[in-house]
Amino acid sequence: MKVASVVGARPNFIKMGPVHKSLSSSGIEHLIVHTGQHYDYEMSDIFFNDFELPKPNIYLGVGSGSSCFQIGEIVKRLEEKLTQRQVDLVLVYGDTNSTLAGAICANKCGIKLGHIEAGLRSYDSTMPEENNRILTDHLSDYLFAPTLNAVNNLKKERIRGKVYCTGDLSVEIIDKTKLISKKSEILDILGLKSRSYLLLTMHRAENTGTKDYFIQLLKTFESLVDNTIVFPIHPRTKKMFKTFGLLDRLLKCSNVKMLLPVGYIDFIALLQNALKVVTDSGGIQKEAYLLKIPCITMRKNTEWVETIKGQWNVLTGVDSKKIVDAVRRPSPNSKYSKSVFGSGRTSQVINELISSIIQ
Ligand code: UD1
Ligand code: UDP
Repeated sequence: MKVASVVGARPNFIKMGPVHKSLSSSGIEHLIVHTGQHYDYEMSDIFFNDFELPKPNIYLGVGSGSSCFQIGEIVKRLEEKLTQRQVDLVLVYGDTNSTLAGAICANKCGIKLGHIEAGLRSYDSTMPEENNRILTDHLSDYLFAPTLNAVNNLKKERIRGKVYCTGDLSVEIIDKTKLISKKSEILDILGLKSRSYLLLTMHRAENTGTKDYFIQLLKTFESLVDNTIVFPIHPRTKKMFKTFGLLDRLLKCSNVKMLLPVGYIDFIALLQNALKVVTDSGGIQKEAYLLKIPCITMRKNTEWVETIKGQWNVLTGVDSKKIVDAVRRPSPNSKYSKSVFGSGRTSQVINELISSIIQ
């Protein structure tokens, strides 16, 4: 049996980590196809190192560009590779352009398709990822849904493929990484003490296209002058600070420690020692919840609805006043249920399902 994972962006590599280990250890031939959507060392190779993944079997080298360019080029370049290698099943992860492109190509080549992290919905069609998820789910033969909410979302859409509730890969990823992260030196290198800083990330297309949102972010930094803010900056966000002529103002915020994006082990070390995290990431909302770190999400909605119960995750949009209020609010002490994301056996469950589906 030959399975190919099509991955291309930071969160895709992270989710593939335990799946690769599980499939390979049970004798399934697992090909890694890297589309090249992310290519900087800090956005790509660092995750292959942190998760001890082998080099990709196939590198498509697509790079940056519009969504149409990325999706079109990936589909075009992938077709030949998938058919040449006689792949039985294509796996795609999450909601990136690489995910959708992998799904379209598998479907058009007549290869069975499995979607890991199926069924998530923010019900916000202005998010490119929401459209990627819906289209990928409707092309999939096998839908590996992380939560019961995700299963219900798929049922409401009368999905064609077979739906399985597998739990979320983050549980096992976090359980393992939080131990490894104890050896990370990132806090010492940055001169940080545990619970003495806020961690911040922002990169969503809908948040980085508007100058006003960058001004809101700068106002937030300026209002929180007594808080150290650790900001591993995504290349898209850095580029847009420059485009809007606001990089100098950012560099003047002496409470902000701006870093290149960091690897996963260092990121989890930073997250589990933070006072709170401020983010617009999908994955980080869930990781913060699993680590019981209060999260402030600079979005108006979330697909990870489980995290907003009990105020562990608060939605503020990119509104300086709301973010600052949320930072200053006492941390929640309310009901919390990690089990909504499953028992931490998701890669094994997916492996068993794949083995039984494809004989
Ligand atoms: C993509 C995903 C998003 C995911 C994010 C993870 C889509 C539609 N979006 O967004 O869901 O949350 O990855 O980080 O697929 N760039 C570099 N170096 C790199 C990669 C990107 O400089 O290695 C810069 C380029 O200027 C590029 C921009 O970042 O144009 C955006 O990259 P892209 O992959 O298109 O989207 P992301 O914002 O990373
Ligand atoms: N992450 C990382 N280093 C960073 C920022 C994020 O390893 O500097 C990890 C983070 O822990 C999470 C994933 O990258 O698992 C999320 O990626 P991102 O926010 O880019 O994408 P999203 O989850 O929003 O699709």
